[in-house]
Amino acid sequence: MRILITAGPTREAIDPVRYLSNRSSGKMGYAIAEAAAEQGHDVVLISGPVNLPPFDKGTFIEVESAAEMLDAVKGAISNVDAAIFAAAVADYRVAEIASEKIKKTGDTLSLELEKTEDILGSVRSAFAFDGFLVGFAAETNDLEKHAIGKLNSKACDMLVANDVSRNDIGFDQDSNEVTLFFKDGEKEFYDRRSKKEVAKVIVETVERLARTD
Ligand code: CTP
Repeated sequence: MRILITAGPTREAIDPVRYLSNRSSGKMGYAIAEAAAEQGHDVVLISGPVNLPPFDKGTFIEVESAAEMLDAVKGAISNVDAAIFAAAVADYRVAEIASEKIKKTGDTLSLELEKTEDILGSVRSAFAFDGFLVGFAAETNDLEKHAIGKLNSKACDMLVANDVSRNDIGFDQDSNEVTLFFKDGEKEFYDRRSKKEVAKVIVETVERLARTD
């Protein structure tokens, strides 16, 4: 199969020296890309800024902002059979990027933020993607409720949910514990294991379901 994967955080510029971002390390997305390539799939990895070795087992596209990630997805999505959106895309960016460094003039500073494009949420409608679609949800509470909400609202076939309130799994850790939610209402729980093993589970599940889709 041809599989597109997004990974890492995005960076939304505030001024020439500052940005908004999040704690995503990119490890989960890169592990999925490695696992998919190992299984012989043709992989396109679209990555935000991370401190990981460049992916060299397929097509590797590096981006910074949510808008750049959307552009890269737009360019690649029509050629793939499955898309796995593991990136922690910033939900907001500053409404206007300052062209010069913002000086500290007052005791408080307000930034006006506007929503970024929901890349995963737009691939079905904006790009008519009809392949197997996998989303991620990082939650601190009501995991199942939020995960099922995202699975449905973003028209995913499968959603990978993990609890980011825990320090031993998820963001910036080498292991993860996930529940896979499926559009037919089924779910599967995988207790704590390395991100490499979680990646293998995700790729095998995509192989199993995408082929019979
Ligand atoms: N996603 C995306 N583009 C965005 C935001 C999120 O593609 N602008 C994707 C992520 O890659 C992930 C899923 O959507 O697969 C996460 O869903 P989202 O509802 O954005 O999760 P949160 O950002 O955690 O949202 P909330 O704050 O509502 O929990």
